[in-house]
Amino acid sequence: MNTRPLKLAATFLIPAMAFGLDEKRIANMFDPQATPADEVVKISILTLLICGAIFAIVAGLLAYIIFKFRRRPGDDAAEPPQVYGSNQIEIAWTVIPLLIVFVLIMVTARVVSAVQNKGLPANALHATVIGHQWWWELRYPELGIVTANELHVPVSSTDGGLPTVLTLQSVDVIHSFWIAQLAGKTDVIPNRDNHMWIDPREPGIYFGNCAEYCGTQHANMLIRVIVHPKAEFDAWVANEKKPAVNDPAVAQGRATFESLSCVNCHAIRGTVAAGAFGPDLTHIMNRQVIASGALTNTPEHLRAWIHDPDQAKPGSLMPAMQLSDAEVDQIVSYLETLK
Ligand code: CUA
Repeated sequence: MNTRPLKLAATFLIPAMAFGLDEKRIANMFDPQATPADEVVKISILTLLICGAIFAIVAGLLAYIIFKFRRRPGDDAAEPPQVYGSNQIEIAWTVIPLLIVFVLIMVTARVVSAVQNKGLPANALHATVIGHQWWWELRYPELGIVTANELHVPVSSTDGGLPTVLTLQSVDVIHSFWIAQLAGKTDVIPNRDNHMWIDPREPGIYFGNCAEYCGTQHANMLIRVIVHPKAEFDAWVANEKKPAVNDPAVAQGRATFESLSCVNCHAIRGTVAAGAFGPDLTHIMNRQVIASGALTNTPEHLRAWIHDPDQAKPGSLMPAMQLSDAEVDQIVSYLETLK
């Protein structure tokens, strides 16, 4: 199917809706880059066409009738004849919508079953995505890696690249995981494991967002999927598996960090910091963003974030620790070594 007109329309419409976001964070669902997303786009286009046709017919008839039967000079004020009980019309307006709904149900069921029942290779990569207010914890149980907000996966290609199977969990409320170019939305529900899979065809960065209202910072619960060529992915894995860098040059910063209650919420592998409430910071400097995408990962943003999280992300569950500028500088200099 030729999707170029839709892509063009989306190119103009989506930036208008997503004002304030930089262009690269805009995810265009009409430009799918993985099998589940291909299926979602096909069904979306069909639904859009059907709904568009219904809208055109209803709005067209309405406009025609409003014009044709408008009040004219000399009309008397009496009501026109009222028609009751036309079997033909009633059958038509019952049967036609039923047929349309039936077609949509069948097409949807076919797509849902094709995506869910797809036989995936037994050695596919597994990752667990855990929704928190308001960030994403990412675990790779087989690899012993814990990270946050940026899901790294290998590219799935015809030459043996593997898809990634995601298990979705929530520690608090219902979230929804949506990377528009890779797959449909899947709800992330407390006390329940949901599953989905992706097989991105092209290396690159794919942007997504929590898609279920989950509280104050729902809109800043961004996620990015970083798709690597296989060798690059392996290098990322090898680095993430290492414990945190211990650079003696920032011993003062590390001591400050460890003396504060930061360690009750954040883990830095190989140190006393072992909290699980906030993101794991073991390799934080390898991440592009902090605060689940609210800020890019620069020393200035780290400083501002630690000084007062509420400033960047009002309602954030990370408290302002009332630190002096010197303490914030020490902590940031320590964090900057965690590559
Ligand atoms: Cu999490 Cu909306």
